[in-house]
Amino acid sequence: MELTNVKPADGKLGIMVVGCGAVATTFMTGVLMVRKGLAKPVGSMTQYDKIRVGKGKDKQYLHYSEIVPLTKLDDIIFGTWDIYPQNAYQSAIYAEVLKEKDINPVREELEKIVPMKAAFDHNYAKRLDGDNVKDCKNRWEMMEGIRKDIRDFKAKNNCSRIVVIWAASTEIYVPEYEPIHGTLASLEKAMKDDDREHIAPSMCYAYAALSEKAPFIMGAPNTTVDIPAMWELAEKTKMPIAGKDFKTGQTLVKSGFAPIIGTRCLGLNGWFSTNILGNRDGLVLDEPANFRTKEVSKLSTLETILKSDDQPDLYGNIYHKVRINYYPPRNDNKEGWDNIDIFGWMGYPMQIKINFLCRDSILAAPLLLDLTLLSDLAARAGRFGIQRFLSFFLKSPMHDYTKGEEAVNNLFEQYTILKNAIREMGGYEADQEVD
Ligand SMILES: NC(=O)c1ccc[n+]([C@@H]2O[C@H](COP(=O)([O-])OP(=O)(O)OC[C@H]3O[C@@H](n4cnc5c(N)ncnc54)[C@H](O)[C@@H]3O)[C@@H](O)[C@H]2O)c1
Repeated sequence: MELTNVKPADGKLGIMVVGCGAVATTFMTGVLMVRKGLAKPVGSMTQYDKIRVGKGKDKQYLHYSEIVPLTKLDDIIFGTWDIYPQNAYQSAIYAEVLKEKDINPVREELEKIVPMKAAFDHNYAKRLDGDNVKDCKNRWEMMEGIRKDIRDFKAKNNCSRIVVIWAASTEIYVPEYEPIHGTLASLEKAMKDDDREHIAPSMCYAYAALSEKAPFIMGAPNTTVDIPAMWELAEKTKMPIAGKDFKTGQTLVKSGFAPIIGTRCLGLNGWFSTNILGNRDGLVLDEPANFRTKEVSKLSTLETILKSDDQPDLYGNIYHKVRINYYPPRNDNKEGWDNIDIFGWMGYPMQIKINFLCRDSILAAPLLLDLTLLSDLAARAGRFGIQRFLSFFLKSPMHDYTKGEEAVNNLFEQYTILKNAIREMGGYEADQEVD
């Protein structure tokens, strides 16, 4: 390891997951199983990927943990909040993502992960009804309650650092509203005034995490930290933020496949994505106001990869449509279909069809591990605010739109940004060499 300014990963890291559903429990079970040597963390960049550092005869391919000081899986402690009181073992069984034989060896550890009372507002997820919910007068009190949970968890488990990650249900769409979300002062006032329309419960989690000096990651498409007020708070507290929406099935395919079309200068008329999903996430997304949040997030992918301004002949008139259909028999095993209408030489049309039979939470779990470990790393490296290097893991990556910044959605560009951030934090030079 080169000389770096990154603080060592000493002590325990508390990973506090908002929501104890399918994704969260698949993540936790996997980490605990890997720790026992009973499973492999397949899909995790921090556990498997190797990056080239140095050039020419000095070049070496190293794992992330050989380049930067990463928290070891043995040093992770899990905490969670949920509106249902079932512990992580019960939730993992209920989710039916993993077989019992892959859960039972860590049953005791999972049973100890009991959800704290959630900061919840039924109007933000009408299909959910649980009573493990905080009783609070206003949004400010809601946020203070979460801060206390974080402090108590940290002390009780003797953690030296905390990361908070949202893996709870998608909330209804809250578009950025400048008078409230524009500055930290206006956001705080709205929380104290209990402005329930503009302050989502997820914003209370984010505010609490950052104030307790914990990085915050938004794994759903909620606009929570995608507002200037939260950027201001992240600057003030010097904490990293990342979001939004785990990039798992269809969008992963899209952000990896669209560059094929763009790189070969083929044209695109339309891209229709539809999928069926039968888990609780699918149920929540069956509500139009919740689906809207997801739709906005999923639609943003293509336009920054295949740019109509750059290539009006090729991408000037793309019809992009995304649908999610709730279909209980499939549970967590989502099936996605993409129909891609492209055109070639002299405008002749062609079609590409992709049929992805994926497992939603199996794809999401390694992202939670990478996002939490890398956010903790970023904090120790003194990085704060929007972490663009984490865009690789996210469907609708954060960027400062008030300064005209564009999101980078191309998977391979995102990978370059990720590698360079790891190199830089490891004390190596960033570069664009072809490996
Ligand atoms: N699995 C994927 O591929 C994927 C990809 C991208 C994003 N996501 C997002 O991840 C999230 C979790 O997905 P899932 O399949 O685990 O869903 P899930 O329904 O199984 O779990 C979500 C849990 O969050 C709880 N919850 C809801 N509001 C809460 C609140 N305010 N505080 C605490 N807990 C709350 C629910 O009770 C539920 O147990 C969803 O928002 C989903 O859209 C998943």
